[in-house]
Amino acid sequence: YHVEWDAEAAEKGGFDHFMLKEIFEQPEAFKKTLTGRIQNDKVKFSEFEFTKEQVQNWKKIFIVACGTAYHSGLVGKPLLEEFLRIPVEVDIASEFRYRDPLVDEETLAIFISQSGETADTLAALREAKSRGAVTLAITNVVGSSISREAHHTLYLWAGPEIAVASTKAYTTMLIAQYLLCIYLAQVKGTMPQGKAEEILSALQLLPKKCQEILANKDAFLEAARNIKDAQNLFFIGRSYDYHIALEGSLKLKEISYIHAEAYAAGELKHGTLALITEETPVIAIALQQKTYDKTLSNVKEVKARDAFVIGLAMEGDTEILKTVDKVLYIPKIDDIVSPVLAIVPLQLLAYYAACERGCNVDQPRNLAKSVTVE
Ligand code: G6P
Repeated sequence: YHVEWDAEAAEKGGFDHFMLKEIFEQPEAFKKTLTGRIQNDKVKFSEFEFTKEQVQNWKKIFIVACGTAYHSGLVGKPLLEEFLRIPVEVDIASEFRYRDPLVDEETLAIFISQSGETADTLAALREAKSRGAVTLAITNVVGSSISREAHHTLYLWAGPEIAVASTKAYTTMLIAQYLLCIYLAQVKGTMPQGKAEEILSALQLLPKKCQEILANKDAFLEAARNIKDAQNLFFIGRSYDYHIALEGSLKLKEISYIHAEAYAAGELKHGTLALITEETPVIAIALQQKTYDKTLSNVKEVKARDAFVIGLAMEGDTEILKTVDKVLYIPKIDDIVSPVLAIVPLQLLAYYAACERGCNVDQPRNLAKSVTVE
């Protein structure tokens, strides 16, 4: 009697691809990023501590990264600006390092990298350090080059990520930035009364709410079938929804090879609207209450050009049904942490679209997991 043993299949734990496995690992990964870091509505890290004087000394913050990690930094910027009241710049590492960035001893420079080995991010870290900045790495890999060279490191604890397309590293990078932002604002004394409690309790609901999205995976397979033959596709949204649009479009491009572009919804009329036809599906992300009506009026503009529109909305939103062809829901959650949940349906959409098109999901053509050349 002989049992076939496929080591790779075993590693995939019953999933067809590492990417799908890693998408499904997100609720556990969220818990690991959060564990031990919240006590009595205060955030603390065992890895580092700052004094009030140190935080008050920073006049500027840079967030520097590549790819998906860069997209996570786009969410970090408005958070840090709102609660720390310091200007924040988000930069692509390969751009930052070749300019003459305004970095000095009064700068906090944050480097985000799943692998901790991306060549441009590492070079940017060295550049910022040589200019006197305090450097902080956010990474998933213990002992990686970036973690060794930065003054301080915040670990994601998301577990190994194997698929080239990053999923659980992205969502845990977001969670790490919410925690970091609350921690720094609490130390500085700029966190508005009651706000930390509100965000921290929303963060703790994420594992369960993510589970609910995953349990509904067939809805995303069905939506993937609606878009799988498209040659071009647009993602639109405003504020945090726009940042999610950027990451959703990267996911779709890199694994399904459908050309996708993310647009700030308000920018559509400045050029892109000319490209919308019945053959250009649009994914409209309409989660942020503050900009909801404005986004919906953009949806009407693309509908008027006969686009097939899939809306991504908060459970209970029936208003959107009047304007879109199809709607995908995420469970109700505080607007500010909604990006963590909002990307999950888009990861699944990209995954299923790639499968439907027969693509090599875990190893997309021409791409590598970790880019250690410049
Ligand atoms: C490569 C990967 C991306 C990743 C980027 C940055 O391009 O394919 O998934 O986002 O590198 O990687 P890092 O390890 O620095 O987060």
